[in-house]
Amino acid sequence: MNSNIKRLYELSNKSHRRVIGLMSGTSIDGLDVVDCICYGTGIDTKIEILHFETVAYQEDFKKEIKSIFSKRAVDLQKVCLLNSWVAEHHANIIIDCLKKWKVESDSIDLIASHGQTIYHAPKNLHGLDNFSNATLQIGDGDHLAVKTGIITISDFRQKHIAAGGEGAPLAVYGDYFLFSKKGENRILLNIGGIANFTKLPGDLNRSEVLSTDTGPGNTLMDAYIQENFEEKYFDDQSTIASKGIINEALLTSLKKNIFFEKKFPKTTGPELFNLSYIEEAKLAAGIPTLSHEDMMATLNRFSADTIVQAIIACTKGWDDIKIYCSGGGIHNTLLIRNIQEQLPNVGFSTTETIGIDPNAKEAVLFAVLANETVAGENNSIGNMETGHPLVKMGKISFPN
Ligand SMILES: Nc1ncnc2c1ncn2[C@@H]1O[C@H](COP(=O)(O)OP(=O)(O)OP(=O)(O)O)[C@@H](O)[C@H]1O
Ligand SMILES: [Mg+2]
Repeated sequence: MNSNIKRLYELSNKSHRRVIGLMSGTSIDGLDVVDCICYGTGIDTKIEILHFETVAYQEDFKKEIKSIFSKRAVDLQKVCLLNSWVAEHHANIIIDCLKKWKVESDSIDLIASHGQTIYHAPKNLHGLDNFSNATLQIGDGDHLAVKTGIITISDFRQKHIAAGGEGAPLAVYGDYFLFSKKGENRILLNIGGIANFTKLPGDLNRSEVLSTDTGPGNTLMDAYIQENFEEKYFDDQSTIASKGIINEALLTSLKKNIFFEKKFPKTTGPELFNLSYIEEAKLAAGIPTLSHEDMMATLNRFSADTIVQAIIACTKGWDDIKIYCSGGGIHNTLLIRNIQEQLPNVGFSTTETIGIDPNAKEAVLFAVLANETVAGENNSIGNMETGHPLVKMGKISFPN
């Protein structure tokens, strides 16, 4: 038997697999690297996290990605160069982490790599009749496999689109496997650049499971801070927003977009929610100037309101709801308060209380997807009515 296929066959037959999960989201803040063991598959999946670290990106890395990120007109040579350059960077980060954690690379069964999204174009955003949903992540899996010597599963989103989805949010599968709990109506809320949640009904009715983006999480606040404060990348602990007053006219104007009227589930990105979005809302509201503090207070509230409104709209008929939060947004104290205050009867905590470090959660979810690719049985979830096709995702790259 071909040695690669033999290795894959052996991995598929193991009772558990040790996986390095990688996540790099739209915030371009760093690479989340988790070293975890996946026991079982599908709804029987259990995770043990051995190591986790977010490796912050250097300025030159951020600058290169931002030169093409979510832009319609870019240097195509740059896209081509960055596809392998990002993978080399990510491979070096993995090698450094393994060294630091004193883990031999041959004890790792798989790498699960999300890649770096450079453009997300669901039909609801591009609106072009002749074209379907599309998305593009760079940081090619073959480069990761060759450089690290570890079988790599990557580029998960294309299969989702090929089977009719929007390529996001992919959290639904892992959220359902790891966090569904009989008797508890759960919302798994992740606040990254974009905010999304998975709805997990306590009666375990699979057809009710849904995952959707809600709109901006940190992305507008981050973009505004980066544009106006040279040394800052985000509003640490919401210090700036906390000093401001919400501008109600701007808040109303920010909420006037067709995205918020579309039915759930839906996905979006910084292709829509960016600095021009803020400028247009400001113009429409007739606001010439605003202090940085008031602008940040308003943007913070905008993210909170749209998250809350989406949760309310998707949980009609539910009582006794528990929200488990993850992602960088949990560190934005004002944002969390703005959400909590509007949902006084909802239990609110982070995924820490259900066993997963909230900073590591997204990377763990990709490890779970890779585990499914290699060993999953037919016990996954999905149907197109809820926007999530029943598929196993990811491309397999061998080191040789
Ligand atoms: N101490 C903090 N105070 C305020 N905000 C913070 C803090 N730490 C992180 N954040 C926010 O979290 C963001 C990073 O979040 P995260 O890594 O979950 O997002 P992401 O990389 O875009 O991933 P995703 O794919 O989930 O969108 C930062 O850009 C920042 O806005
Ligand atoms: Mg991140």
